[in-house]
Amino acid sequence: MSSFDAVTRRAFTNGGLAAVAATVSASAFAQGLAPGLDAQVVIDAAATPIRFDRKIFGQFLEHFHRGLYGGVFQPGSSLADRSGFRLDVIEALRELRIPIVRWPGGCFVSAYHWQDGVGQLRTPAFNKPWGVEDPNTFGTDEFVAWCRMIGAEPYICTNAGTGTFEEMSDWVEYCNLTQGKFGRMRARNGHPKPFDVKYWSIGNENYFPTEIGSKTIDEWGMLVRESAKVMKAVDSKLILLAAATVDTDWTAPLLKVAGNFLDYISIHGYWDFLWERGTKPSSYIEAMMRSRQPEAQIEKAIKVVADNGFGGKIKIAFDEWNLRSWHHPGFPGGGADRVDLIRDRDENDLNEVYTMADALFSAAFLNGCLRHGDEVRMACMAPVVNVRGPLYAHDKGVVRRTTFHVLRMYSDLLQPNVLASRIASAPLTAGGKSVPQVDAVVTRSDDRRRTTTALLNRHPSRAARVRLDGIPAKGGRLTILDGASPDAYNDVANPSRVAPRQREIRISGGTIELPPHALAVLESEA
Ligand code: AHR
Repeated sequence: MSSFDAVTRRAFTNGGLAAVAATVSASAFAQGLAPGLDAQVVIDAAATPIRFDRKIFGQFLEHFHRGLYGGVFQPGSSLADRSGFRLDVIEALRELRIPIVRWPGGCFVSAYHWQDGVGQLRTPAFNKPWGVEDPNTFGTDEFVAWCRMIGAEPYICTNAGTGTFEEMSDWVEYCNLTQGKFGRMRARNGHPKPFDVKYWSIGNENYFPTEIGSKTIDEWGMLVRESAKVMKAVDSKLILLAAATVDTDWTAPLLKVAGNFLDYISIHGYWDFLWERGTKPSSYIEAMMRSRQPEAQIEKAIKVVADNGFGGKIKIAFDEWNLRSWHHPGFPGGGADRVDLIRDRDENDLNEVYTMADALFSAAFLNGCLRHGDEVRMACMAPVVNVRGPLYAHDKGVVRRTTFHVLRMYSDLLQPNVLASRIASAPLTAGGKSVPQVDAVVTRSDDRRRTTTALLNRHPSRAARVRLDGIPAKGGRLTILDGASPDAYNDVANPSRVAPRQREIRISGGTIELPPHALAVLESEA
C-alpha cells in the first residue's frame, strides 16, 4: 500500500506529506553577516533574472459557507447589481488586479454537476461534500461574467469524483464551442459568443481518501489521460492541470501515464490545521516558524516534475494555498443531518484570526513563488472572499484583511524581473525551530532603471538592520505594512487599523531598518 493510501486529511501538511523539517541550524542563516547587521541581501548580478508570471497572484472561489453566496453573489443586497454580484466586492477585488480565479472547488466540485447550474431553470442540488443545498443560481455563466467584471481569467476545476470524463468535455464544449449540443445550449442561454475558458483542471485532491470520489494511484493516471484526451478533442488549445502532490508515489505514475497531456500539476497547501472541532489558530510565532515550509514544498514539486522527465515542460500551480486551513469539522461528507458541525463554519468569519501572522506568512509564500518563478507559474489564494480570504464581505460593506494589503503591495509595486540574490540573516528561534529573521526578494524593471525590493522582518518585537548590496539604495519610496502588534487585524469596526503607509527615505551606507513584524517594499532608482 502506498504511503498515500493511508493518508487522511489530518495528515495534510505539505501536500499530503509529513511536515517538512523546519529546523535548520541557526548559524546556517547567518553565515558572513557583518557585526551590527541582522541581515544582508546580496544581488547575484551574473545570474539571469526570472520574469515571473502574474498568475501567482491568482485566487480561488468555492461554494463553501459565505465564500460565494453572501460573498461575491448576494441577489437582493442593496450593494449588488441586477445579476446579484456584490459591486463593492468587485470594486475591492479590482484593486488587486487578480489575473486568474479557480472555481467551483475544492471539495465542492467532486460531486458537482455543471448542467444543474446553467439555463433558465436552475435545479437546487444537495452538495454531498459540504452537506448543504446549493441553489445553483451562480453557475458557469455567472462565474465567467464575474471574472470579466474583476478582470480575471476564468479557470474551471472539473468533477473527477462522481463525474465522468465526458461530463468534463461537455463542460468544455458548453464554454468554448459554437457547435454541438452544449455549444448550442450556451447560445440558447443567451451567450452566443464562446466564453473561451482556457484553464481547466482535472479533479481536486482525489488523492485523499476523504475526498468524494477518491482514486487510487493506478486509477488516477488513466482517468487524467482519458479526461485530457477527450477535453482536448473538444478544444485543442486548452491549458490543462491535474491534481497532484509532491509525493513521488502519487505523482510519478500520474506523469508517466498522463504527463504528455498536462501543462501544470496542481498542488495545495495549508499550514495551520483547523479542520477539526476545537482547534485554535496558531500564534504569530508558530506561524512564522512554519513560513518556510511552502518553499520547501515548491522545491519538492519541482524535483518530482524534473525527476520524471518533465522539467521545464510541466509547471507548478499552487492553486490552493493559505496559512490557515478552513474550519469544517467532520466534512467533507459529514451529512446533511450534521447541522451542528455545519454551523461551526461561522468560525471562518472571525476577523481577529487574520493578523500580521497571515500577512507575513503570505509574503513569505509569495517570495517562495517568486524565487522559483520560472517553475511556479500560478498560485491561487484560498479563498478570495470570506472564510480565510483577503477580503471580508458583510451586509453593509467589505473589510480588507491584512493579507489583502500584502497582495496589493506585491501586485502594484513589484517589477517584472526577479533577480537572484543571497540572503544572510540572523535567526528567529522559537520552540526549538529556527527561520531567518529577514527574507527578501529583489525585482527590476525591463529597462533596469527601477528596483523594487520586498523585505519582511519576521521578528515579533525587534527591528532589523539590513544591508542591501547591489541594490540602488541611496533613497526611494518605502511602503510598510506592520500593524501595532503581531496580532493586529482589521474588522468591521476598524477596517483600516492595519494599512500600508508610505514615505520617502534616504538610505545611508546601503543599510535600511525594518520595523518588527513588518513587510517593507522599497522602490529605488538605479
Ligand atoms: O478546506 C477547504 C478545502 O481544502 C477545499 O475544498 C479542498 O480542496 C482543500 O482540501
